[in-house]
Amino acid sequence: MVKPAIDYDVKDLALANDGNNRIEWAAREMPVIRLIRERFAKERPLEGLRLSACLHVTTETANLMLALRDGGAEVALCASNPLSTQDDATYYKHIHAALEHKPQITMDDGADLVATLHKARRELLEHVVAGTEETTTGVIRLRAMAKDGALTYPIIAINEADTKHFFDNRYGTGQSTIDGITRATNILWAGKNVVIAGYGWCGKGVAMRARGLGAKTIVTEVQPVRALEAAMDGHQVMHMDEAARIGDIFITLTGDVNVLDRRHFDVMKDGAIIANSGHFNVEINIKALEAMSESKRNVRRNVDEHGLMDGRKLFLLGEGRLINLAAAEGHPASVMDMSFANQALAVHYIATRDERLPVDVYDVPREIDSEVARLKLASMGITIDELTEEQEKYLTSWEEGT
Ligand code: ADE
Repeated sequence: MVKPAIDYDVKDLALANDGNNRIEWAAREMPVIRLIRERFAKERPLEGLRLSACLHVTTETANLMLALRDGGAEVALCASNPLSTQDDATYYKHIHAALEHKPQITMDDGADLVATLHKARRELLEHVVAGTEETTTGVIRLRAMAKDGALTYPIIAINEADTKHFFDNRYGTGQSTIDGITRATNILWAGKNVVIAGYGWCGKGVAMRARGLGAKTIVTEVQPVRALEAAMDGHQVMHMDEAARIGDIFITLTGDVNVLDRRHFDVMKDGAIIANSGHFNVEINIKALEAMSESKRNVRRNVDEHGLMDGRKLFLLGEGRLINLAAAEGHPASVMDMSFANQALAVHYIATRDERLPVDVYDVPREIDSEVARLKLASMGITIDELTEEQEKYLTSWEEGT
């Protein structure tokens, strides 16, 4: 095994016992990962494979790492977002340490590991066979790399699996974002004007849950089809310039920069709450907010009060970092079960192929997606109908009409 530059860098090892209890607690809600782990332990399909993962370091991630380890992989893990370390320098130190492992497979969440490998550690690229990417933001970055001809190895986009984004992004981000904002502020959602920027799967989930709590939901979008969907789902749709004047709570989930900017802060109501649940802390122009602020003080855990020159106060949550992980515990284990089952099975797919995949960004193979859904349904005690022979034939023929 390659000796990494640092074996581990954990603030307080005395917490290991509590950590183990929490990992076991998450495992109760991860039956698909449990099955895969048992299968991996018997078959050892990843024997000796070096894998470097850059994921949010949570109890759910721990269960994925244990499954990969039991499959025979030698795993190095680092945190996939500076929020997990609260310190950018440590963040990159850990990415470099994970790369020292000389991975044959990379597993990324946001594409910083892949970007660092391609920008700063090119000598290690020769070892890499393939990788996986967890999230929307990472997939967008990797597609841009592939388009520029900069990507040097194939990557499977876990986010594109139906059993990932329909559940993790919608129900996971939906619930945990509301959870994070509630834990940070203890606000009552009922009757509030909640502005959701971005109506992708994450935005849809947050809007649905906010409305479920009695909020009046406003969606802002740039894509016409998504905006139309939001309108027909019953949300108000308008420009952010307009929404900025009426929102009580703002939540960004677009994957893009400066979605909330100076001109929006200029017109926000006194007491407006601002949070981000997109992958990186770039969606809120915090520099502009700070430049406009006469005072800044931390008034509660994860709540910074910005006192503006005209006397209004705006409250920024979790320093603009992913609020569901900054102020709550991220997506619940039951949805990470499916996302991480896709991860584990995608690694198995890469490791057991005879030939290398050509360089590109790939969807998760359909069979893996269906297998994850089948296993999850089985764990929920749900069985479903099967096509009869007649129905199967009907669907595969074109001659029969009315
Ligand atoms: N991303 C969002 N929630 C997560 C969780 N609980 N574990 C790992 N990655 C996550």
